[in-house]
Amino acid sequence: MITRKDSSRSSWMAYFFLLAAWCCLFSPAVMVKHENFKKCDQSGFCKRNRAFADTAAATSSWTSPYALDPSTVKFKDGTLSAVVLKTVGDGEKVKLPLTVTLLESGVARVTLDEEKRQKGDIELRKDSKARKERYNEAGKWALVGGLETSKGAALSEKVEKGYTKVFYGVGGKHEAVIQHSPFGIEFKRDGETHVKFNERGLLNLEHWRAKKEPPPVEEKKEGEEEKQEEETKEPEPQGEDESTWWDESFGGATDSKPRGPEAVALDITFPGYEHVFGIPEHATRLSLKSTRGGDGAYSEPYRLYNADVFEYEMDSPMTLYGAIPFMQAHRKGSTVGVFWLNAAETWVDVIKSKTSANPLSLGTKSHTDTQTHWISESGLLDVFVLLGPTPQAMTKQYGELTGFTAMPQSFAIAYHQCRWNYVTDEDVKDVDRKFDKFKIPYDVIWLDIEYTQEKKYFTWDPLTFVNPTKMGKQLDKTDRKLVVIIDPHIKNTDNYPVVDELKKKELAVKNKDGNIYEGWCWPGSSHWIDCFNPKAIDWWKSLFKYDAFKGTLANTFIWNDMNEPSVFNGPETTMPKDNLHHDNWEHRDVHNVNGMTFHNATYQALLTRDSKGKELRRPFILTRSFYSGSQRSAAMWTGDNLAEWSHLEASIPMLLNQGISGFPFSGADVGGFFGNPSKDLLTRWYQAGIFYPFFRGHAHIDTRRREPYIPGAPYTEIITQALRLRYQLLPAWYTAFHEAHTTGAPIIRPNYYVHPEDEAGFAIDDQLYIGSYGLLAKPITKEGATSVDIYLADDQPYFDYFDYTLYQGAGKTHTVQAPLEKIPLLMQGGNIIPRRDRPRRSSGLMKFDPFTLVVVLGKDGNAEGTLYIDDGETFDYQVGAFIHRKFAFSGARSILTSTNLFADKLTVKAENYLKSMAKVRVEKVIVVNAPKAWKSNKEVNVSEEGAKESARKRGVGLEFFEGGRGKADWAVVRDPKVGVGKGWKIDFN
Ligand SMILES: *[C@@H]1O[C@H](CO)[C@@H](O)[C@H](O)[C@H]1NC(C)=O
Ligand SMILES: *[C@@H]1O[C@H](CO)[C@@H](O)[C@H](O)[C@H]1NC(C)=O
Repeated sequence: MITRKDSSRSSWMAYFFLLAAWCCLFSPAVMVKHENFKKCDQSGFCKRNRAFADTAAATSSWTSPYALDPSTVKFKDGTLSAVVLKTVGDGEKVKLPLTVTLLESGVARVTLDEEKRQKGDIELRKDSKARKERYNEAGKWALVGGLETSKGAALSEKVEKGYTKVFYGVGGKHEAVIQHSPFGIEFKRDGETHVKFNERGLLNLEHWRAKKEPPPVEEKKEGEEEKQEEETKEPEPQGEDESTWWDESFGGATDSKPRGPEAVALDITFPGYEHVFGIPEHATRLSLKSTRGGDGAYSEPYRLYNADVFEYEMDSPMTLYGAIPFMQAHRKGSTVGVFWLNAAETWVDVIKSKTSANPLSLGTKSHTDTQTHWISESGLLDVFVLLGPTPQAMTKQYGELTGFTAMPQSFAIAYHQCRWNYVTDEDVKDVDRKFDKFKIPYDVIWLDIEYTQEKKYFTWDPLTFVNPTKMGKQLDKTDRKLVVIIDPHIKNTDNYPVVDELKKKELAVKNKDGNIYEGWCWPGSSHWIDCFNPKAIDWWKSLFKYDAFKGTLANTFIWNDMNEPSVFNGPETTMPKDNLHHDNWEHRDVHNVNGMTFHNATYQALLTRDSKGKELRRPFILTRSFYSGSQRSAAMWTGDNLAEWSHLEASIPMLLNQGISGFPFSGADVGGFFGNPSKDLLTRWYQAGIFYPFFRGHAHIDTRRREPYIPGAPYTEIITQALRLRYQLLPAWYTAFHEAHTTGAPIIRPNYYVHPEDEAGFAIDDQLYIGSYGLLAKPITKEGATSVDIYLADDQPYFDYFDYTLYQGAGKTHTVQAPLEKIPLLMQGGNIIPRRDRPRRSSGLMKFDPFTLVVVLGKDGNAEGTLYIDDGETFDYQVGAFIHRKFAFSGARSILTSTNLFADKLTVKAENYLKSMAKVRVEKVIVVNAPKAWKSNKEVNVSEEGAKESARKRGVGLEFFEGGRGKADWAVVRDPKVGVGKGWKIDFN
């Protein structure tokens, strides 16, 4: 959360302000502060590289000055190495070591470094203590696997002058064709080119050069200075604009740039691909727009520079809080992608280049290429090329590299209630009781910064949070949790042991001179923990021990905010780029991974907070800043949005994008953070929020209270129904999380991901599928709307979730009525959806509740679905302590079966778990789209594995219902008494 003006206000003032806010309608005028953030032409390296691209485009004889020296090519164990030479002025050649590593997974990795910097053979200016190499550790934080090199990769035996070719991937179907001069690479699959490097000649690795200092100027009077400097300026070599090479100012701050210009840039073309997705986080559509002007296009590149951009605007390529430099290109029949592993400030231009059909030459159809231009301020050029060929292969390959999403505790996917701030422990307990009074389920209540004593983390305000332990225990009675905020800025004040230790142990980020860095954040003057330092992580762990952070209990979890890092008085509200981290890497090099190192340290801390070492439960951390790999230890939310319909609308494509970009545990503040939502907006937001993988209501300190029980009839009732729907479907959500955890598949999925061959649906980003269940939702995001048009890509029958109204017809939209109380949600034929129908106060209380299976018969009369359950808490699932079933209904045989998807030998923990679940049964089977012939069936036959002889085959009643006009018939089997973890058959013949 954020507003500058509040930073010094005490908790008590907040409390009174809150009372005041209750009485008066307060709606802050909000607008992103554009002047705080750079445009491309205010960021020297972006401007230089865009100018480079313009020059290239305008020069008909443009040739890239990079060439591979064929005499240097070596190939060993799946890795090709060589030297690329960059020709600079007067025939001088700069050596750039190249590696092309072919991985067993079919992914290729290309790195380009600079020999001089690699060897430290450069001079830093201004007595800088920074490292001399290009930053090469982004992979250390982001990558966890998938790096085995390909055993089958081989150089092509056919020698073609001017080219080096390597075959790799399964069956050698992938090929990297390296052109020597100018240097470029084409990546092929099955003989067809899908990705091209340096096709447009925009490769640019700014090599090190010494600054030619102007001759010393004699002392002069003030006022003359500017003029003098102008006159003594060096003539610009070859027309290059040197003005941003040596230092750069923005918003009153000057970056000393001791290493001079060092950008890396490359153009990457996806021939024949019209759609590219990914590179979150931006408040924009799923299918990325062009960025170089024109009809409906942006004029700025997409920017990746994690920043505290509060009150952010919609439909913009502006940077936000997190960065995942992974882009996918999709067309009918193919999905490919690139992962640009660089942690520095990065800009990406996207151009859709249309080629019209040529009537004179047969076979040239009109097509669109997507051209991209990647520009980073520093670091190695390090790019992974993923050749798919499907969206599923893409998310899997990327997940193998950066890790799959962590398996959350089950409470973490239920509803979270937050606001800035619950003002006292009594307030928290009161809210908790009110949820019960109104019979509204929730699992977690959150505390923002005001719970601390004067913004000193690891303390409680003694006046307002008098007895946190008692508060935590009340929550635990209904298996509820508490999340408290802990940020990376540590208050610089007296009598605060945490800051004393941080200083004494030298674990904070340093300024360019090597002294502790001081800046402003919530507490006022602050220092920042440097989690690039392993010692800092160890120290951080010590702070979370139950006996150190008193008042926290086993049901306390952590929210890491402001970890971009947000620095109120820093350039672009963050740290100076010449700050120094562990090992003397400049902040410039590591900026985008900074937030991840922090939330990961917190994750490690929660794992070890019990000094007896008995804390074996999965941590829950929410982070605002993120990078590739964050999915392994945290959930994210989209930061400080507004209580406006446009922000509700934008949340859907933003979260869909998170999902395909490997970080699916994501949500947006329900209700909107800034401002007061109308009751209609709040209600519609809850109806949408139940489809966010991370589902939290949150509100700014200046807003009126808006807990679900506040708005009154009929809103409270409608919101409660929405929450109940989320809770009812938790088994499906949890299974979808398990799928994400094991395969990298998104939890909510866009149309193209589910129907990759349906061109008309590629850009659709306002409707979503939940997991693999064929549950298709399209939240209402327009004020006053009472219906939506849902697009159906396939010709399966779809049924309204609530009344089984039938919608069918591929490739077109279908109007679904949706008055305020109605959530547009369809079930695709062919799926079996697991639910838990008994309303409870929290998900923890549902642990041993029975299941309902909704069998939705498809057009062929079949259906299937899976269910994953574990204890929802510990890591025992890693040793097999879970239930993983497949349910299938065969139309031809009229039999529903449950089979085991887990075939390994059972460990003791697994056996104990199954025992604990032995009594949990399926209490109801609903068959939607049931065959008319069942009308005369009064019974089904049920048999369960391992049941006693007498009970092996039993008749159970079947009820048949006619749907009537436009609605499906359905049938219900009540209480077949089969175990959810058992194998069984229900015979409908
Ligand atoms: C996370 O923390 C562990 C343990 O301290 C460390 O080994 C790992 O490198 C960290 N990863 C990231 C991404 O910070
Ligand atoms: C159930 O099984 C019994 C014995 O096999 C058979 O007689 C009966 O018809 C079956 N009933 C149904 C509804 O399938």
